[in-house]
This record gives sequence, C-alpha cells and structure tokens, in this order.
Amino acid sequence: MEITPSILTADFTKLGETLEEAVEAGINWMHMDVMDGNWVVNRTITFGPALIRSVRERLGPEVFIDCHLMITNAEEAWNQYVDAGVNLVIAHVEAVDDMDSLIKSLHDSGCQAGAVLNPDTPSSSILPHLANLDLVLVMSVVPGKGGQSFMPEVEGKVREFRAAIDKQIASGGRETKLMIDGGIKDHNAAMVAEWGIDVAVVGSGLINNRGTIAENLAAINSALGL
Ligand code: DX5
Ligand code: ZN
Repeated sequence: MEITPSILTADFTKLGETLEEAVEAGINWMHMDVMDGNWVVNRTITFGPALIRSVRERLGPEVFIDCHLMITNAEEAWNQYVDAGVNLVIAHVEAVDDMDSLIKSLHDSGCQAGAVLNPDTPSSSILPHLANLDLVLVMSVVPGKGGQSFMPEVEGKVREFRAAIDKQIASGGRETKLMIDGGIKDHNAAMVAEWGIDVAVVGSGLINNRGTIAENLAAINSALGL
C-alpha cells in the first residue's frame, strides 16, 4: 500500500521544506486538499491552483500530484488544476451533476480522473462510472479538516469497491486504484491494506510534532511489514 501525505497539518510557511522532506523520505505522490470555504460543512478555505502550481514547480515533474476537490464548482474549475500541473483530479460525487462528462473532459485534457464519496454516500453513486475512473477515493472522515478520527464503518464499502475493481481488472478493464482518506495512522494502516486499499492518504499521522516525516513513515511501513 502506497502512502501519500495530506499537507493540512503542515506549517504553510515551511511548505516547500516539508514537501522536500517527504520526497527525501521516499514519498513520490502528494495529495492536495482543496476547500473553497463553501462546500465542506465547516466552511474551511485551504488553498487553490496557485499554491499547487508552486508545489509542482518546486518538486519538478517526477512527483505525482493529485488534487482532492472539496469545492462547489468542480465542473467549471477543474481545468485550473490541470493547468497548475496535477496528474489526477478527484471530484466529489455529491458535488458533481454529470460525472461522465467531467471524466471525459479530464481524459481529453490528458489528466487522470478520480471520484470520491463521503462516509454516508452509497457505493452505487460511483460504481456506474468505475470503468472510466483512474481512482476511487473512499472518505473515512467527514471532509473538512485533518486530525479527525477514522470511521471503521466504511469497511463494507471499501471491500465492495475492491471486489468490483478486481472483477474489472480480471476482465481486461481499467486498473482503477482504490484510495482511502482520513484518520489513517500506523495503528490502522495494516487493517485498511488488508481491506484492499492501494493508496492511503495520511495527514496528521505523517506531519506532526511527534516525529519527522521519515520516522512517521517508517512506523507506518513497519506496521505494513515493509
Ligand atoms: C479531510 C482531508 C484529508 C485529511 C487527512 O477533509 O481530505 O486529506 O486532511 O488528514 P488526517 O490523516 O489527519 O485525517
Ligand atoms: Zn483529502
């Protein structure tokens, strides 16, 4: 299982150094949490395309960057994130009217397409689009901030997506990746890996005052037996 950091608990005045520390520790996938002050329940604003563009310029072309759009107008704004240099746009199924059309627009622009669902949104909202999605993200917290507690009740949904993706791959279809986001730490990483997660977003479990990113990643990888 691959680990990608969420930077919401980082000191933004030292963001470049923090991301370089993550790359030095062996991380080559960055997860950028975009909130527009409107879509998430707590009305948080994080950052937008300008910051992501700076991250791309600082880290260079080798690092994979996804953006998790927690915004009201993903269908109008997605191209700003593609222009800023992301490899993958992940849009909330609850916030998008026409997911098929968004996926097509992203693919036509050379960007990968992902869909994400909240803990209480059923898998049926995403399963019809699975064949065209590069990634499905299951939220294991209610989106809005870092450092929340993991919601184990999403297990059934994760296993359902794992089975559907395995079936799709076995029949020669797209190798959709399965991601989880929210409350992942060294103590539950092995559990979600066993559920079938390919990529776990880790925010406060990696970027905190308890250890360096390298130390925190080593603890997670050791829990994963890596
Ligand atoms: C929640 C964000 C997550 C979150 C992860 O709205 O999408 O990426 O910040 O942080 P932790 O790992 O601290 O839950
Ligand atoms: Zn996220």
